[in-house]
Amino acid sequence: MAVESSYEPHDMKFRHLGPTGLKVSLFSLGGWLTYGGTQKGDIVKECLQAAWDNGINFFDTAEAYAGGQSEIEMGRALKELAWPRDEYVLSTKIFFGTGRKEPNTRGLSWKHIVEGLKSSLERLQTPYVDIVLAHRPDAATPMKEVVEGFTQAIRNLNLAYYWGTSEWSAVQITEATQIAERYNLIAPIAEQPQYNAFHRERFEVEYAPLYDQFKYGTTIWSPLASGLLTGKYNDGVPEDSRFATNKQFFSDTVKQLETPEGKAKIEKVRKLTKIAEKLGGNATQLALAWAAKNPNVSTVILGATKVEQIHDNCKAVTLMDKLTPDIMEEIEGILDNKPKPTPTYGRSR
Ligand SMILES: NC(=O)c1ccc[n+]([C@@H]2O[C@H](COP(=O)([O-])OP(=O)(O)OC[C@H]3O[C@@H](n4cnc5c(N)ncnc54)[C@H](OP(=O)(O)O)[C@@H]3O)[C@@H](O)[C@H]2O)c1
Repeated sequence: MAVESSYEPHDMKFRHLGPTGLKVSLFSLGGWLTYGGTQKGDIVKECLQAAWDNGINFFDTAEAYAGGQSEIEMGRALKELAWPRDEYVLSTKIFFGTGRKEPNTRGLSWKHIVEGLKSSLERLQTPYVDIVLAHRPDAATPMKEVVEGFTQAIRNLNLAYYWGTSEWSAVQITEATQIAERYNLIAPIAEQPQYNAFHRERFEVEYAPLYDQFKYGTTIWSPLASGLLTGKYNDGVPEDSRFATNKQFFSDTVKQLETPEGKAKIEKVRKLTKIAEKLGGNATQLALAWAAKNPNVSTVILGATKVEQIHDNCKAVTLMDKLTPDIMEEIEGILDNKPKPTPTYGRSR
């Protein structure tokens, strides 16, 4: 039977996710704090549809988001939207559990990888995700067990096609990869790290050998530093913004904005806004295009509480081409935070 396609790429660009044959849209959409958190019901479906209408084919969630409610809301939206399953890519993350306190309902034991993922799939109303990520490293589980757990979930149980890491050190990712090679297990393919104009060191320096050696992919989070890079916090905290709607979580961030360091960040956002406007865009699009411009980024995960934000943010795709080497240098001058690469003592390939 012919499948009726509902997907149109529009202006979207695509990259392979790390060493795999899987293609993800350069911008994707995630549900942290938003879907199942502040946003429930039809708005979730509307946001996913807006993403789809801009060529986004990749959606991200986690067992921990809103204690499992993010998976429930996103799963319901995906079911109602009824796109052909082979046209989109879905990821979830296991580690933090859903807030329960029993000893085995979190972490990366073989047991929780499988049981946690099965519970996630139930909430998502789907038999598999494309990628399952270890939401953090687990100091309490031997690395060989972690790699075996994910391998079993993929190879024997068909609960996912690929696995990845989130906020693991380069050393931990290398260890997992080498264990997979040694024992004929499945290696992780991508990391989900924070990366934005104010948070660069780990992505640009620590992970550099991973891109080289393993073609390791990245699905980057908080590309707008939770909204700071949009300019919406330049003159205080708007009532309907993330820093206000998740007050407790962001109380230190808001306090930090009053410090000289915080004020310097706002000043940088103001200067970046001027460059963005010169290019015919806005600060949000510039921050997103800047991140997407880095070839080691496989996909930039957007967060959005409103449909308009998604339409606004996806215009970053077209702004990317205007970020010439001269403009990138101008941005670098404003940011003034380029991390120093690891020294090579005159040796490079
Ligand atoms: N692996 C991890 O540990 C981890 C951690 C965090 C996130 N993530 C993933 O990464 C995704 C994205 O992270 P994030 O949500 O922190 O991304 P972000 O882009 O830094 O922040 C998104 C938030 O900024 C505001 N915003 C977005 N576009 C805007 C616009 N055009 N104008 C004004 N405000 C705008 C919205 O919040 P308001 O409207 O509420 O102000 C939106 O929810 C998450 O959904 C999740 O999938 C992963």
